[in-house]
Amino acid sequence: MGRLRARLSAAPVAGLACLGPLVLGLAARGGLRESPAPAGREGAAVEVVEFDERERAILARLSPLGAPPADPTNAVADDLAAARLGRRLFFEKRLSGKGEIHCAHCHDPERAFSDGKQLSEGVGKTARNAPGLIGVAWQRWLFWDGRADTLWAQALHPIEHPLEMDGDRVAVARLLERDPELRDLYEGVFGSLPEMDGWPEHARPEEGEGALGRAWRAMTPGEQELANRVFSNVGKAVAAYERRLIGGPSPFDRFVRGLSSPDPKASAGDLALLDPSAQRGLKLFIGKAGCRQCHTGPSFSDGEFHDVQVRPLSGGERTESMRLGAVRKVLGDPFNAAGPYSDAREGAAVEHLTFLAAQSESWGAVRTPGLRNVALTAPYMEQGQFADLAAVLRFYSTREGAAPAGHHQEKVVKPLNLTPEELGDLQSFLLSLTEEPPPEEWRLPPP
Ligand code: HEC
Ligand code: HEC
Repeated sequence: MGRLRARLSAAPVAGLACLGPLVLGLAARGGLRESPAPAGREGAAVEVVEFDERERAILARLSPLGAPPADPTNAVADDLAAARLGRRLFFEKRLSGKGEIHCAHCHDPERAFSDGKQLSEGVGKTARNAPGLIGVAWQRWLFWDGRADTLWAQALHPIEHPLEMDGDRVAVARLLERDPELRDLYEGVFGSLPEMDGWPEHARPEEGEGALGRAWRAMTPGEQELANRVFSNVGKAVAAYERRLIGGPSPFDRFVRGLSSPDPKASAGDLALLDPSAQRGLKLFIGKAGCRQCHTGPSFSDGEFHDVQVRPLSGGERTESMRLGAVRKVLGDPFNAAGPYSDAREGAAVEHLTFLAAQSESWGAVRTPGLRNVALTAPYMEQGQFADLAAVLRFYSTREGAAPAGHHQEKVVKPLNLTPEELGDLQSFLLSLTEEPPPEEWRLPPP
């Protein structure tokens, strides 16, 4: 990483515009090309490994990132005022039961919105690693097991989860009602808040004899519906905010742009951003190492669920059904895309649900994580089982420590037996996926 960073800072792309004729030779591609070093990078040569037509076609599907897919289930998904409200809420500790935990507690803007821990801790210790959120708008299913089908429905889970924020939807509605600034922001986007006279101070649906569940059951169905409406709007505002967590081009994106650019001057600057090791890693990634089989598309995730047989943190065999259990959860979620709080009860998101079946193949399967900015979100896997990228790559290469096959194991992941050099190349490539950070307006807490 040090090397890549150093190179990036030593040769800012803007500064390369003055290279002039020095780099013209790069226009013709193929084979290993060399050209005199740009000023400031002593001795380094711009080398480009051969990428054939097939590989270039594959690269065109990975970059550029483009715009995030629309989310018609959220009418305010791309509304600026909703995103501003969402940003306030994302950094709002009062959404939590004791007023101590906000979303950024586990999704730290300084760590690409992850938390650097194996298992996240909020009110209590959870059983999962916190994914980074840059580019989360590209994910079709949310959570490692995909138990939420929209970004806005996902946001509702941590607020009420007893180990995360331990808040409740009625207290959230009351916060909006009583805080003049939040109230203005909310009503500017969603219209008037409902009358809450007669509502309890705290309530959320839950099983058992807990006070929150009892208070919820004591509310009328009409009151519950109104509280759910406000709660779903909170999720939609937070999602509108999260949809703006989009990074700028990574060195990889610049490199792909360079490969396909007809302008030699422009492409020299871009091509120089991936050193030969990262280029070889890229070739491996889309070729022999087979990573692209699952890590595909502009976010480097197929959005599907696979079992790569990582052992649980506790060791031993895997016992969690992951995708299998999550299918039932998302189908039963009143906030799913087909439910009464969705703004598009027909369309792609609903079809995904209609054709969703709990199949035994999905036992133990985990959603393929995207790989953009992966260098910033260690540790890795759903329980942070691997401390760094080298450990992840070693696992794919040797399969050492893999858990026994699940119930209906897909036989996709075989030991790759990569050489140390190949492992280094793949790692260099993964580091080149670090994007420019999203604009401060969205990355930082509101003033
Ligand atoms: C206590 C730490 C914690 C807090 C607080 C927290 N999260 Fe998370 N978040 C996690 C963990 C852990 C996961 C993964 C859980 C899983 O997949 O089962 C996660 C998953 C997510 C995901 C899914 C990402 C993906 O790629 O599927 C999103 C989006 C998200 N959180 C947003 C939020 C928002 C919005 C809030 C505040 C309303 C929030 N989180 C609060 C720890 C936290
Ligand atoms: C069969 C599909 C599949 C293939 C092939 C595959 N991956 Fe993955 N990858 C996954 C899944 C699923 C996870 C999450 C596993 C888990 O959490 O248990 C993952 C996790 C990762 C992670 C950790 C990301 C994070 O945020 O925690 C990295 C890095 C990674 N893969 C890189 C690679 C590389 C490099 C290759 C090729 C050598 C590869 N993968 C091949 C499906 C795949």
